[in-house]
Parts: sequence; C-alpha cells; structure tokens
Amino acid sequence: MPPEPPGEPDPTALERALVLDTVRVTEQAAIAASRVAGMGDEDLVDQAGTETMRRILGELDIHGRIVIGEGERDDAPMLYIGEEVGRAGADAWPVDIAVDPVEGTGITARMVNGSVAVIALAERGGLLHAPDVYMEKLIVGPPAAGSVDLTWPVAANLAAIAASLQRSVSDLTIVVLDRPRHAELVQEVRETGARVKLIGDGDVIAALAAAVRGTNVHAVMGTGGAPEGVLAAAALRSIGGEILGRFAPRDADERARLDASGVDAARVYRTEDLAPGSQMVFAATGITDGDLLRGVKFFGGGARTHTISMGLRSRVLRFSDAVHLLDDGARVTIQV
Ligand code: FBP
Repeated sequence: MPPEPPGEPDPTALERALVLDTVRVTEQAAIAASRVAGMGDEDLVDQAGTETMRRILGELDIHGRIVIGEGERDDAPMLYIGEEVGRAGADAWPVDIAVDPVEGTGITARMVNGSVAVIALAERGGLLHAPDVYMEKLIVGPPAAGSVDLTWPVAANLAAIAASLQRSVSDLTIVVLDRPRHAELVQEVRETGARVKLIGDGDVIAALAAAVRGTNVHAVMGTGGAPEGVLAAAALRSIGGEILGRFAPRDADERARLDASGVDAARVYRTEDLAPGSQMVFAATGITDGDLLRGVKFFGGGARTHTISMGLRSRVLRFSDAVHLLDDGARVTIQV
C-alpha cells in the first residue's frame, strides 16, 4: 500500500490498485479450469481452478484473508476460510476475499453453459463471513430493487418485477437452480405465466445476468449456497439491483453452525448486509459460455477469455476480451 498523500484519502485507491490484478486471478483460474473441462471430473476442474487462483493471489501486493472460500481448513487444502494469501509486505493492501475458483464444477466437468471463476475483494470486514449453508434468495435488477420482498408470495414478487420493467408477467424469465427442492417454486412461477430457466449450477453469474439488461434473465429465485449469495451481493453493489437472502439451515447441525458464526437465521439479509464494504472489487471470467460472458476458447498457442470486472467506488465496469499468448514460441495470428 503506497504512503497516503497529504489531504483527503482517495476512496478509490484500493480498487484502482487491485482491479486489474483481480482480473488476472479470474482469467488464469478460468483458463486452468477450462483446460480440463469436459472430462467429466469435477475434482480435477476444481483443483485446477483453485491451485491457479491461489498461486496468482500469492503474487499480489495484498495481505488477504479468505472469508468465503473452498471450505473449512480441515476440508480444504487451499483457499480455506481464514487462509492468508498475498505477498503481505509492509505496503500490502489488507483485504478480505471471497472466492469461487470454479463456480459450477458440475457444469464445467460436463462442459455445460454457465460456469465462471469469480472473486470479490473488500477492505477488512467488507464481506459477510457467511457459513456454507443454503440461503433462500431473491435477486432482481436495478428497476425492481426496493420493490420486492422475500416474504411475499411468488406471484406478488413477479408482478412487482414485471411492473418495474413495464412488461407483463408472461414476458419474464426467472432463473431457478434445477433441483428437486424447487419443484413447488417452479410450479408457482409457471402458474403466473412467467417462464422458468432451469440451470444446472451457477447462481452467481445468473445474479449478474438478472442485473444487466439484454440477457433475457429478469430474476433469480430459490435456494442456493450462502457463500454464492455474498459473491453475488459484492457484484450487485456495483452494478445495481438487489439480493434478498435468508439462511436456510437443513438440520440442527447447520443451525448450530449458523449460531456459532453469529449470523441470524431468521433475518432477511439485503445486498448491503451481505457485502457491506465501502471499497470493493469484483471480477468473474467465463469458463463455459453463458448469458453474460463467453467461455474460454483455446487456439494454437493461446487462449481467449471474457471477463466482467468492477469497482464499487471507482464506478467503472469493464467487459474485457483478452487474448493470452501462452506459448512463447508459437506464431499466432490474432483474430478480432
Ligand atoms: P460449486 O461452485 O460448488 O460447483 O456450486 C455451484 C452451485 O450451483 C452454486 O451456484 C449454487 O449456489 C449451489 O451450487 C447450489 O448448491 P447445490 O448444488 O447443493 O444445490
């Protein structure tokens, strides 16, 4: 961290210093995971993404602490909760980090659309330490933010979303994770006339798709991972839109974990509760093709990646299309 110049501290300094490094982290993790995508091996995909993400994080001028990661220390060899990453020198930025090196290991292993490598960084305390239990979620774009409520019936929320977009409910597409637990929800949505887009995995990038116009995704509903809820919230703080989430423990053991972690199982958490930071960087790189990002494409001698990155205070959102020349000796002709 460079010495503060005299006068007011620059509120965008952390973001400007780290956003491009953060993009490198997700690009490299996506390339590594993509190399072994389609092999049908979820562990291989996860290992490739995780090892690479950790290696690149280790090269950054940060004193990073993983708050959302691959699991508890005993279960995860790398990027476990509490792990410290980065160079951690005297000038390093102290940051809390949420990662999912392969958000959608199953779909990556099957090379199905919608997986990404994703990371969020914030100043210390800027990301909720959400335990890895389920969370009931309702995610909408900027027009509907503030006009939906997780405790309302599905039809009422869909009516509010449709009104915010000045269209009828039958013009909405709602993303839901394709799980048996969502049978009733899917039926309720369909009964309103809205269409359901079932996804195999990956509700973080679905949240971003709901927040961006032109993706034909208007909301995400249903129960997914709470850590993914924090990652989605970090992005929505910059893009706009809203996530409402309530922890959904499945048994006494998960309830005890929630209690121990200090979160409130009865409360509806809003975007700012899940990602309260005042300086925040978010990046996601497509591994497989999706509604918002293209997946990694390999060509002789390199790879091409597609990334969305953003800073909360710096108010810049970038879509970056990068060509990585991975083989020094290769003669490559770049295509536009
Ligand atoms: P992974 O990143 O572990 O593959 O999880 C992907 C995911 O589909 C998330 O997007 C989602 O929030 C969660 O899993 C849902 O959990 P489950 O697969 O247990 O329904």
